[in-house]
This record gives sequence, C-alpha cells and structure tokens, in this order.
Amino acid sequence: MKKRTMTYAWMNGEFIPWDEAKVHVSSSCVMLASRIFEGMRAYWNDSHEQLYIFKSPDHLRRLYQSAKIMRMSPPYVASQLESAYVELLTRNSYREDAHFMPSIYLGIGQHFMSYTPDTIDTGMYITSAPRKSQLGSGTGINVCVSSWTRISDRDMPPRIKVAANYQNGRLAHVQAREDGYDDAILLNERGKMAEGPSACVFLIRHGTAITPPVTAGILESITRATLIQLLQDELSVRVIEREVDRTELYIADEVFFCGSAFEVTPILSVDRYVVGNGKVGDLTAKLQHVYDQVIRGNNPTYADWLLPVYGA
Ligand SMILES: Cc1ncc(COP(=O)(O)O)c(C=O)c1O
Repeated sequence: MKKRTMTYAWMNGEFIPWDEAKVHVSSSCVMLASRIFEGMRAYWNDSHEQLYIFKSPDHLRRLYQSAKIMRMSPPYVASQLESAYVELLTRNSYREDAHFMPSIYLGIGQHFMSYTPDTIDTGMYITSAPRKSQLGSGTGINVCVSSWTRISDRDMPPRIKVAANYQNGRLAHVQAREDGYDDAILLNERGKMAEGPSACVFLIRHGTAITPPVTAGILESITRATLIQLLQDELSVRVIEREVDRTELYIADEVFFCGSAFEVTPILSVDRYVVGNGKVGDLTAKLQHVYDQVIRGNNPTYADWLLPVYGA
C-alpha cells in the first residue's frame, strides 16, 4: 500500500499516526481473515465547504449485524465509532472526497479451535484515504461472467462483510483481469446472477430496472437500496427485484455496477457482448447525476442521508 504520511488512523480508542496502526501477525485477523468492516464514503462540497458522510447509520447497522452473525463482541458501540470516524476525518483535514473503513477484528490467541465467548480479544480500527468520485467520467468497464461461483449463505454468507469472503471475489477479479476484462460478475450456486467482487448489479430492460434480491448471494448493499429509491422517486423508473439469468445480461439495454466504492459504474460489455450501443446508457448517466447531487448535499430532499463532518 502507498505510504501515507501525516495522516492518522483510529485504533482501539486512540488516534495514532498511520504507520503505527498494526495488528500482530499471529492475530486471528491476520491468520484467518477474522475482520469485518465497512467501506464508507465522505464527499466534499466546495460551495458548502463541507465533507458529508453518506448513510452513516446504515453502515453502522450493517457492521453490527455482521458482528452479530460472526459472534463478535465489538468493544465500542455504534455512537462511539461514529464519533471516532467523524474526528478521524477532521484530524486528517480532508477537503476532498475520501473513503474510510471502520473494522472490527479478532486479535491474538483467538484461533477458533480455542473459542470461548468470554476470552475473545476483539479490537477496532478505522483507516481513511482520499478517493475521488468517478461519477460522470463518461466511460465504463468491460466485464465477464466468472467461472467462479459466488459463495452462498449456506457456507460463507455474502451478507456478512467479512474480509475472508473477499477471497472469493479476488479469485473472480484476478481471473477476469488475466483474461483481459476489467472485472467479473459472479453467478450464485443456482446459476443465477449474484454480484461483482465488490459491487451489486442492475440491468435495464425495456425501461425497467432489474436487480437480484438480497437472497441471491449478495451483500445487502446500501447503494443498491439507495438507487432503488432514487430510480423510483427521482427518475420514475420501475424497479423489480428478481432472479436474473446470465443471458439477460447479453440482451440488456444497460447494465451497471453499484456500491460505495463503485458508485454507479456503467458496464459496456459482458463476455464481449456489447451492452446497448456500447456507450454509457442514458438512464445510467441520469442516475449518476442524481446520485452525485444527493451524495454531495445538493439535493435537500435527502439531506438526512448525510452527516456533516465539519462543525458536527
Ligand atoms: C461484495 C460486495 N457487494 C456489494 C457491495 C456494495 O455495497 P455497498 O453499496 O453497501 O457499498 C460491496 C461494497 O462494499 C461489496 O464488497
């Protein structure tokens, strides 16, 4: 990772220099990828001179739900964590878009074979970095349908945002890159579309937006829920949550990835089948604009989705 100087991380109640944010190599976090996390965004609004955190309560709710399923006991409650990331972003003095990740991890001596609920060493940390929004770049990506299958709720539940799950996505992503694509879409164990390695998927057919249900082997994406609402309320587009066949991707009018990191990322081809006319679709472009206005605090209807960092 690129070395960052003069920035802070938050770890177990303290703001510490970036280089000092460490966990031991023998921790369960390192040995077994026992770490749950959120990937969150804060967007800078120049005219407001403000940095807005997007949907903080939704991310906190999902993080503590991941902890519950994983039987992890976070040492700090959601309100403490929220105060910590607001202060972290303030201390790092971002006046630009930023990405940050609150994490809960298992520490030393926590191999699961010695599991007892009362001796678990559980820690928390937050890292952050500048990350510019890619919305409105006017371009998109080319993806394949992966030969790897998305993990299922019966073995490694995708609903949990745990680091270990990302090995499944990594296999698919790296294979896609080796094969000359930008990224991959994974099918679930039933052969229906699940999601990308780090994003959910929407397609547009005959003016209707279609996305798989939360039982399709996907993360319960906060962006997905946001876009379902914005498509309906801001663009008057009907949204259907249903199973999606692989071949529907080949004949869709528009396809896009969505997620905190991916925002709304147009997909221009799938398995080298051109999507629509091979350019960013009209509806996708409109949705990118609506989303950009909302996350940056330029649409007052959704002001309560934003947590201002400065002067909070
Ligand atoms: C596997 C996976 N699916 C979907 C998403 C999108 O979720 P969200 O919109 O909550 O960021 C992410 C990103 O965090 C992800 O890692």
